[in-house]
Amino acid sequence: MPNHLWVTSGCGLTLPGLIYGTAWKKERTAELVIQAVTAGFRGIDTACQPKHYDEALVGSALQHLAKQGIGRDALYVQTKFTPLAGHDPQRIPYPPQASIETQVARSFQVSQANLRTDYVDCLLLHSPLTPFSLSLQAWQAMEQIYHAGGARWLGVSNCYDLAWLQALYAKVSVKPVVVQNRFYHETGYDVALRAWLAEHGMVYQSFWTLTANPFILQHPALQQLAQQYHVTAAQLFFRAVTQIGIVPLTGTTSLRHLTEDLAIFSFTLSEVEIQRIQALLSDA
Ligand SMILES: NC(=O)c1ccc[n+]([C@@H]2O[C@H](COP(=O)([O-])OP(=O)(O)OC[C@H]3O[C@@H](n4cnc5c(N)ncnc54)[C@H](OP(=O)(O)O)[C@@H]3O)[C@@H](O)[C@H]2O)c1
Repeated sequence: MPNHLWVTSGCGLTLPGLIYGTAWKKERTAELVIQAVTAGFRGIDTACQPKHYDEALVGSALQHLAKQGIGRDALYVQTKFTPLAGHDPQRIPYPPQASIETQVARSFQVSQANLRTDYVDCLLLHSPLTPFSLSLQAWQAMEQIYHAGGARWLGVSNCYDLAWLQALYAKVSVKPVVVQNRFYHETGYDVALRAWLAEHGMVYQSFWTLTANPFILQHPALQQLAQQYHVTAAQLFFRAVTQIGIVPLTGTTSLRHLTEDLAIFSFTLSEVEIQRIQALLSDA
């Protein structure tokens, strides 16, 4: 991925404008991460959640890529601490009875071993915990990892309640910099939350960007713009999303789609065209 495809948030976090997601790849994880990075991706999203991610195979891919000359420092790697409710009870990567602080610490040790790296660029809380005090305890444990150099930045995922995020932001000393959310109509595309993140120099990462939005991808206005730019509807929508300040994730398994996804940075939509697509989001 050429340098200009990296973006820097107001807070100073520099990350690729498009990130490769590793969920549901199972035994193909290493092969597919290598394929994505070889194609030009430099951002990798994973989680210490064996139910959906094979984090150790992400680590195998990183090791292989380093031997090929693409070292750890050339990549942006993020992982997550997944609270108990997000795990397959048979495959919890920490002692389930332990305190939340120990759960976070142990989960991160497993991530370091899996990924064969001392640090991640960002460590995310996979989803808010209830009650709020439990989220704060998890966050404080994540802050310890941050202070020890294990994570350069912290973030949160599946956070659709702006008031919750504002409360966290107000209470903690190491502020969240990334929010990774499902980008869909049911939450009004997080319009207010995204505006608040932008004001605070934070990054919004989207998942389900294509799969949750068939209505938008099939919309004649979007189809017509795609034709005009000689790109697919998926490329057009991904590009529009990046131009409104979002960093999307893609977990494509197809080399053709990988190449198309990276090619979105070779064209730029006009302000009017972006507004037309934003209007589709409001109508959805
Ligand atoms: N924080 C969370 O709770 C959470 C939840 C879900 C996902 N995630 C992260 O987000 C990543 C992405 O997940 P996702 O659910 O957004 O999507 P995904 O797994 O990438 O699925 C997207 C679909 O879009 C297709 N696709 C990709 N690029 C395309 C293109 N250019 N043209 C047409 N089709 C294309 C893919 O098909 P092909 O494979 O055939 O290309 C796939 O069927 C995950 O791997 C994970 O890292 C996080």
